[in-house]
Amino acid sequence: MPDMALDRKISLPAGQKISQVVDVAGAAPSDAAAMRTEEAEMTTAIHIQGLTKDYGCSRGLFHLGLEVEAGEVFGYLGPNGAGKTTTIRLLMGLIRPTAGRAEVFGLDCWARSVEVKRLVGHVPGELPQFGGLRGREIVAYLGAMAGGISAERVKAISNRLQLDVSQRYRDYSSGNKQKLALVLAFMHQPRLLILDEPTSGLDPLNRQEFHSMLKEEREAGATVFISSHILSEVEHCCDRVAIIRAGRLVKVAGLQELHDIRIAGAHVVNLSSHEPSLEETFLQYYEGDGWKAPKEVATC
Ligand SMILES: Nc1ncnc2c1ncn2[C@@H]1O[C@H](COP(=O)(O)OP(=O)(O)OP(=O)(O)O)[C@@H](O)[C@H]1O
Ligand SMILES: [Mg+2]
Repeated sequence: MPDMALDRKISLPAGQKISQVVDVAGAAPSDAAAMRTEEAEMTTAIHIQGLTKDYGCSRGLFHLGLEVEAGEVFGYLGPNGAGKTTTIRLLMGLIRPTAGRAEVFGLDCWARSVEVKRLVGHVPGELPQFGGLRGREIVAYLGAMAGGISAERVKAISNRLQLDVSQRYRDYSSGNKQKLALVLAFMHQPRLLILDEPTSGLDPLNRQEFHSMLKEEREAGATVFISSHILSEVEHCCDRVAIIRAGRLVKVAGLQELHDIRIAGAHVVNLSSHEPSLEETFLQYYEGDGWKAPKEVATC
């Protein structure tokens, strides 16, 4: 999704009305969708090296190194204030790194942020202010900035999420604002989806619909980088996860590895013991200094 920086109000090019910006129905297939095919052979979607955003007082993100392969669904986890949104804002070129670099499909996220924004479908952690614009006007404007979108696709996604795009943004409930953010992220068939807590505020039915959409995008070859606090969601849809705490990476692992850790780390005290849940494994990383063996599990 194009730049949806916090509190930024969208403004039209001089002399243009929103209805003149794009005829969504007549738009050409998006650049992002075309490039997805063209550059499918590129194997690294996200490359992060020594990435730091120092807000002072030990707050921010420090020396992050990560690699996400094309086609992966990569979960990004951590407690409140860990640095997830900061990482995502750096990836979207919305803030400048203090040190280090991040690349999306070989493009420097800060130096080439315009191209990066065209390639990426982004759900921001905090939704921007679109004031009294109607959903369909926001879609048309940002669709034009993304290089053109298909009206059928917008209609299909908004129907799936049961979003009325004729309503004004300020009249949407918070769940409906989140649905609009999803429409904006998915509408141009991006090669890479960078999603900051995308299911925040969605009811269970819409969350399920979102998971189906994610599965379809993945099958079509997209890469997904998703931050979430919903551990069952991560377990359900991710291949690998990274866990950060206090701005520092503490663990990168495949889901299978985390499952193995929880099984290997459990001390079976009697036949009625239960193995620790994946949530307990995550919490070990959230709370402690790296991995500690799980405590003995209580008997049921
Ligand atoms: N613009 C800013 N100025 C100063 N400090 C900031 C700024 N943005 C974020 N921080 C700080 O950086 C740290 C990481 O914040 P961030 O929003 O990235 O966390 P998060 O992992 O997304 O948390 P949450 O799960 O609550 O969304 C926090 O300590 C936060 O207070
Ligand atoms: Mg956040």
